[in-house]
Amino acid sequence: MKTVKVGIIGYGYWGPNLARNFFDLPSAELVAIADLREDRLSRARSFFPEIRTTTDYNELFDMDLDAVVVSVPPGLHYPVAKKCLQNGLHVLIEKPMTQNSEQAEELIQLAEARNLTLMVGHTFMYNSAVIALKKFIDSGELGDIYYLDAARLNLGLFQRESNVLWDLAPHDVSILLYLLGQDPVSVSAYGTSCVFDTIFDVAYVNLMFPNQIPAHIHVSWLDPCKVRRITVVGSKKMIVFNDMENEQKLKIYDKGVDAPEYTDGYGEFHCNYRSGDILIPNVRMTEPLRQECQHFLDSVSNKTRPDSDGYNGLRVVRIIEAAEYSLKNSSSKETFAWEPLNMPALRQM
Ligand SMILES: NC(=O)c1ccc[n+]([C@@H]2O[C@H](COP(=O)([O-])OP(=O)(O)OC[C@H]3O[C@@H](n4cnc5c(N)ncnc54)[C@H](O)[C@@H]3O)[C@@H](O)[C@H]2O)c1
Repeated sequence: MKTVKVGIIGYGYWGPNLARNFFDLPSAELVAIADLREDRLSRARSFFPEIRTTTDYNELFDMDLDAVVVSVPPGLHYPVAKKCLQNGLHVLIEKPMTQNSEQAEELIQLAEARNLTLMVGHTFMYNSAVIALKKFIDSGELGDIYYLDAARLNLGLFQRESNVLWDLAPHDVSILLYLLGQDPVSVSAYGTSCVFDTIFDVAYVNLMFPNQIPAHIHVSWLDPCKVRRITVVGSKKMIVFNDMENEQKLKIYDKGVDAPEYTDGYGEFHCNYRSGDILIPNVRMTEPLRQECQHFLDSVSNKTRPDSDGYNGLRVVRIIEAAEYSLKNSSSKETFAWEPLNMPALRQM
């Protein structure tokens, strides 16, 4: 199969991880890296002496590339990705796809009009532990899903032009959409700006999914402990995905509570608590980013729709938008209504 010639735009913190993977994958040829900063390009050349580097990403359009990866700050995702699509390149764009839904819709339309692959870097959809977690949910092993809880906390890293919601919540929103395979029916959020007056550094997002399944996301740049955790509580079992664990990322708890039959006396109010074994499934972990990069290459080569396609990116952006609206307007419940542009249903994976 023909290799996909790839260029990377943005070689800051995350770009080097993308470059390493595309350089390693046999079905890709890493041709060029663009960054405004000469020191970043010099670092890139120290790892990949053969590739071309430039401070002007427009030069990538004359390098006979097939695809580009956009890994610049989020405020530049839209203009950079738009120009790349206009120049006939397939695009993998980092999360969050854009800063508002109009921009995301425009990129989708542009990619569709030109038959180009547009994929968003929702890395956790390519994480073996998250994929295994979805399989456990879908198998019915947890029973009816009561609720989901996500926590993504740490001290920093503060960003001047973003807030904690746009920085961290796209990961959890994409995970929840993937796990449940449905859009939420309502979104609300509250939070606080502790360190800078105008930048939310702590946020709590409430999502209500169909069948009255609530989900809660807590994101924070102001927490003493680094936490990366998703908890799914079902009527039969509970499962925790702890991404801070190296090996035992998933734990299935055979725990639950059965309510007593109807009672009218305090003394008879005895719940039946179940506390059984804890199962640690053997999940073979491979680097999620590598899986993501390979999926992008496969989608380009096979002309297939990526799992985290533009619509998936748009969904996440719309949910973050609704949450931010609620956060800023202190609205207790921002009803989240879809007005999709013929948006395909969420893919059942
Ligand atoms: N998927 C993930 O898990 C994950 C993790 C971290 C970051 N990200 C995303 O990756 C993107 C980059 O984040 P980062 O932490 O690497 O940011 P960063 O600020 O460290 O790096 C961005 C780089 O882009 C360069 N740049 C800015 N404007 C440019 C332009 N016009 N042309 C070329 N280069 C330009 C900057 O010089 C910088 O080196 C963000 O969208 C972020 O949300 C994703």
